[in-house]
Amino acid sequence: MTNSANQSQKPLTTKINSCGNIEIGGCDLVELVEKYDTPLYVVDEKTLRTICADYKKAFEKYPKTNIMYASKALCTSAISAILNEEGLGFDTVSAGEIYTIYKAGADMSKVLFNGNNKSFDELNLAIDLGVGRISADNFYELALLNTIAQSKNKTVNILLRITPGIECHTHQYIQTGHLDSKFGFDITQIDEAVELILNEYTNLKLHGLHAHIGSQIFETSIYADEIDILCRELARLDEKFGLKLNEINLGGGLGVKYTDGDVPPSTYEIGEIIIDAINKSVKKYNIEPPAIFLEPGRSIISMSGVTLYTIGSSKQVPHGKKYVSVDGGMADNPRPSLYQAKYFAQIANKKEACEYEKVTIGGRFCESGDILIEDISLPKLEEGDILCVYNTGAYNYSMASNYNRVEKPAMVLVNNGESEVIVKRETLEDLIRCDVIPERLKR
Ligand code: LLP
Repeated sequence: MTNSANQSQKPLTTKINSCGNIEIGGCDLVELVEKYDTPLYVVDEKTLRTICADYKKAFEKYPKTNIMYASKALCTSAISAILNEEGLGFDTVSAGEIYTIYKAGADMSKVLFNGNNKSFDELNLAIDLGVGRISADNFYELALLNTIAQSKNKTVNILLRITPGIECHTHQYIQTGHLDSKFGFDITQIDEAVELILNEYTNLKLHGLHAHIGSQIFETSIYADEIDILCRELARLDEKFGLKLNEINLGGGLGVKYTDGDVPPSTYEIGEIIIDAINKSVKKYNIEPPAIFLEPGRSIISMSGVTLYTIGSSKQVPHGKKYVSVDGGMADNPRPSLYQAKYFAQIANKKEACEYEKVTIGGRFCESGDILIEDISLPKLEEGDILCVYNTGAYNYSMASNYNRVEKPAMVLVNNGESEVIVKRETLEDLIRCDVIPERLKR
């Protein structure tokens, strides 16, 4: 079956150029570092647009498919503008994401607002900015949403988020579809929610059901299980309430290749499995083919992104490991310390033929757990070498912090030999921008 870009460990344009340096998007990484400094997030536009094309092609046989990029993976104005241009919708989970996407000029009718504890202000903003669907997560939210909708004399289009009771093999913190989860209505609570919507919450219009099983998933069969459950529920609700729901949202979750051991399925394989499962369930439950919504985040953006660091100090523990430190770490990529995530890296600048050594790449932050990569074999490192860590497009910048009061890195978009800043490097002034010194403490 055809490969898709999510199966690539590196951006598709990665190569060694005539100077012997790594190049991405036609840009020499050493030159990027000279121009923009490190740590630096780099996003390859070609890889990003290729995966969007892969997704669209994989589902073209089922025209009622809507790809909604899960912006929690990486939400910036330029990335939102590119994905809007590609025709994708957006799965959002906060006012911040909604506002960013709105300001980037996206089609708000293709935005879904999701989350287990959306605030009054966030729901208000979502309705005012014309967000297309709100995925109602719990009883409290249904009541709140109806009150807001009533006060604006509007009808709000919703889905019901449910927990389908499917366990997938991924890190416990990024599993979501199992029964003991904080997200969504338990299957046994759906009817009560539907009764409320039909009888009391008359400013809410229910279109369908929404589930999300987990993230960094390699098993393909669980999507078929999820579809079976969602279609079964559509048929059941039709029979019990005469309710014709015509949308199912399958969430995100398709994995990427962080290390050689990771073998994610392609978008084409997932497409076939999902379309096949829908067709089977439609027959099995005798329902109208529903529109499907997918919310991929990681598999859209991860492989387009790399992070560049400069090698600094090192320490050989007597009879132990060799630690080599870089100028970033857990504040720009918290995934290794949070989920024991593994990454692959290479030296971006040309190294004359030299021996390899096994090192552990430490971050610069004040915690022993700030280790970016354990035991990686690299050419003997020297201060000033540039380390390129691959597959950092998803959940790196979006989960970055200012821990240790360190400025967040810049992000550049590369394409056809051109580089453009899409997120400016924070400055020391940015770090104190929201600080206030009470008058009595001023001197
Ligand atoms: N839809 C819903 C409802 C979600 O909760 C998520 C992710 C997605 C879509 C997108 O899933 P993806 O396609 O990216 O797997 N911070 C963690 C990942 C948390 C994912 C949370 N929900 C990490 O760095 O691995």
